[in-house]
Amino acid sequence: MSFTRDALPADFVIGSATAAYQIEGSPTAGGRGPSIWDDFTTVPGAIADGSTGEPADDHYNRAGEDIALMAGLGLDAYRFSISWSRIQPDGTGPANAEGVAFYRRLAEELIAQGITPYATLYHWDLPSALEAKGGWLARETADRFAEFARVTVEALGDLVTHWITLNEPWCSAFLGYASGVHAPGRRLGSEASHAAHHLLLGHGRAVAAIREVAPTATVGVTLNLYSVRAATESDADRDAARRIDGLQNRLFLDPVLRGSYPRDVLDDLGETAWFDEQPMTDAVEIAAAVDFLGINYYSRHTVRAGAGSDGSLAAGDASSNPGSEFVEMVDTGAPKTQMGWEVHPDGLLDVLRMANALAPSMPLYVTENGSAYDDAVVDGAVDDLDRRSYLEAHLAVCAAAVDEGLPLRGYFAWSLMDNFEWAYGYTRRFGLVYVDYATQQRTVKTSGRWLAGLLGGSLA
Ligand code: FCB
Repeated sequence: MSFTRDALPADFVIGSATAAYQIEGSPTAGGRGPSIWDDFTTVPGAIADGSTGEPADDHYNRAGEDIALMAGLGLDAYRFSISWSRIQPDGTGPANAEGVAFYRRLAEELIAQGITPYATLYHWDLPSALEAKGGWLARETADRFAEFARVTVEALGDLVTHWITLNEPWCSAFLGYASGVHAPGRRLGSEASHAAHHLLLGHGRAVAAIREVAPTATVGVTLNLYSVRAATESDADRDAARRIDGLQNRLFLDPVLRGSYPRDVLDDLGETAWFDEQPMTDAVEIAAAVDFLGINYYSRHTVRAGAGSDGSLAAGDASSNPGSEFVEMVDTGAPKTQMGWEVHPDGLLDVLRMANALAPSMPLYVTENGSAYDDAVVDGAVDDLDRRSYLEAHLAVCAAAVDEGLPLRGYFAWSLMDNFEWAYGYTRRFGLVYVDYATQQRTVKTSGRWLAGLLGGSLA
């Protein structure tokens, strides 16, 4: 297979993505306040290699070098996230000038290099001061998020015109508050869905705030969608697939795009009563019109009903699928990345069609897609052929999606460079660029060189 750029429309955006906590380092520089990830990384056993987001890629001090790399790769766009606690160290109040200055310099330099900035407002790093007040379990946090969106867009909106409110609210809610494998590390079972609701309410209110201060901005939200399949046609396995599709996809897609929660999913969670008690107007706010939907796609889930589907399994307090703990993932034998995630490029087409079916004219972007492999530098090069194939195969699916008429407008590779992979610490590498954490030396991998070739970049 040999993929070329002319398989995609000339205006199709190709970029790469990162997130603040995963690359920046310098957690106290420029008046930055602590976030839940600073706190979580100090919990013994929380991070596989005991590491923290310091120094990560030291991007706070090396942004210029990193933008030069992006220019060399020939990227059209760069999706990064803004650290809430650099802008509002305590999660509220006026913007911190030093935090604003860092992101203004970043955006200015990107624009100078012809790279369009796409900024995510929330990529999981809640200011600790807000977690102390209940975090996303507190309705108040939705208002704080809207305020953060407002002050940030006021400060940067002349430079950044593409905004993403939340990144993957499923992860924030269910990994953060159900399984506890992510910050803030709470294990509350189905109550995690309350966090999901407040995240979504925060999204809706942030969209409204951005529209007020930047009426011409392009605003969207990023969801992590999965292609979900039943292992067999049995009723029990099909019900398992309904449940996981419900928790992962529909619990977020439906309120954002259709203005209502899927009742079956609230029933599975045992949370119908709580959701019914929320103000009726929440649904309207959450469904605030967006200009695009961002989709993060990595893999497909093939599921079956495991032991306990008859109700005999005691509700686990640490499952990321509360209410559906008995559902098991099935290994289909497909190749896996180092994360253990099966490689299924066709699943990307499934999720694009799924979103399009709900909102037929909504522009779609793949805001993340990528793979971890155990890279090594040999003679100054990183020959990551598996990652190059993964990238090529998924870009080919993007072209197929456009060909079948889906309004897919762009693709962002996760990630620009290796970085702090949350609970995996530095043990997983997703970058197009290899980072030697001891020296901070960057080496463009074969996958990055392939992409640069596709995009007409000019790497040194
Ligand atoms: C996504 C996250 C991103 C990165 C990739 C591998 O869920 O948004 O930060 O961790 O997975």
